[in-house]
Amino acid sequence: MNYYKIPHTDLGTGRIGLGCMNLTPAYNETGTSASVRRRLCQLIETAIDAGVNLFDHADVYAAGAVEAVFGHAMHDLKGLRERMLIQSKCGIRIAEPEGWGRMGFFDFSHDHILHSVDASLQRLQVEYLDILLLHRPDPLMQPEEVARAFDTLHSAGKVRHFGVSNQNVGQMQLLQKHLDQPLVINQLEFSLFHSDLVSDGVEVNRQQAAYPNTSGLLDYCRLNNILVQAWSPLGQPASYSGNRDSNRNRAAEELLDSMARARNVNRRAVALAWILRHPAGIQPILGTTNPAHLLDNCAADAIDLSREEWTQLLVAARGLPMP
Ligand SMILES: NC(=O)c1ccc[n+]([C@@H]2O[C@H](COP(=O)([O-])OP(=O)(O)OC[C@H]3O[C@@H](n4cnc5c(N)ncnc54)[C@H](OP(=O)(O)O)[C@@H]3O)[C@@H](O)[C@H]2O)c1
Repeated sequence: MNYYKIPHTDLGTGRIGLGCMNLTPAYNETGTSASVRRRLCQLIETAIDAGVNLFDHADVYAAGAVEAVFGHAMHDLKGLRERMLIQSKCGIRIAEPEGWGRMGFFDFSHDHILHSVDASLQRLQVEYLDILLLHRPDPLMQPEEVARAFDTLHSAGKVRHFGVSNQNVGQMQLLQKHLDQPLVINQLEFSLFHSDLVSDGVEVNRQQAAYPNTSGLLDYCRLNNILVQAWSPLGQPASYSGNRDSNRNRAAEELLDSMARARNVNRRAVALAWILRHPAGIQPILGTTNPAHLLDNCAADAIDLSREEWTQLLVAARGLPMP
């Protein structure tokens, strides 16, 4: 697996990372049984052996159960901690179980950030997070409060580096203005089937420019040395769940299949190679829970799509010719 250096840090990461959102129920809700722990350890070890050393979490995944299940495996794999980058997120609060019907909300307050990280560390059974991301923009954010929380976490050795997820250019600029630490990552939805980050640039100066949420975002991250991570890198909702009601996705899938056949890999590896081909150096965060699927997907690292192939895929997935 080829590596990226995470900007502003001394951390190296495989070009592909592993997201843990789907670990439960695949590895059950408690993770205490020996067989579940063994299976999860096998997934983690397969990932590390393949060069996938970054593991993406969030405090809200299965209301903390994902971090807890992973923590049981970490207990069994203590020797591997230094070979892993563990990233988690905070800032989304879900309604308490007894409060169904009440809304969840966003919370970037100083106290919540500190509380959330302490709980994540405890569940994950680790001493520190390599990276903490703010999960989704909090419209009530006070950047000074976030800065105070980051300072406390950093100086206590609980978090090494910080980033965001799902933020636009203005939100990142506002936050960065108040932080002593650089934002090193923005984790965004990006795939062949959700290509706004690059489509934004293709449509400049055209009437159908229609990507206000991502306008200039990829270039901002490149200019400021911020690693972009791609969540849902397979575009799961439209393309792989059996919902094939869209002609444009069918055309892209056929193209993926033919490029995959020519290379003797599966179509998902080609869809991931499409992300890796972008010179920004984007890191797909895989959502697989299956070691064999993980290895199939990692074949993407060795695929080098030509400019023409990359463009053909984008055109097919968007259902729009290039300008
Ligand atoms: N920041 C955010 O707001 C945000 C939002 C959503 C997700 N995320 C992160 O992004 C990660 C990935 O998201 P995602 O789960 O939507 O990703 P995804 O990789 O696009 O989709 C995962 C799904 O694809 C299936 N799959 C993957 N490879 C396969 C293969 N080779 N063959 C057959 N099926 C395959 C998986 O099933 P199997 O398990 O059976 O392989 C799973 O159902 C999450 O785990 C999370 O860490 C972040």
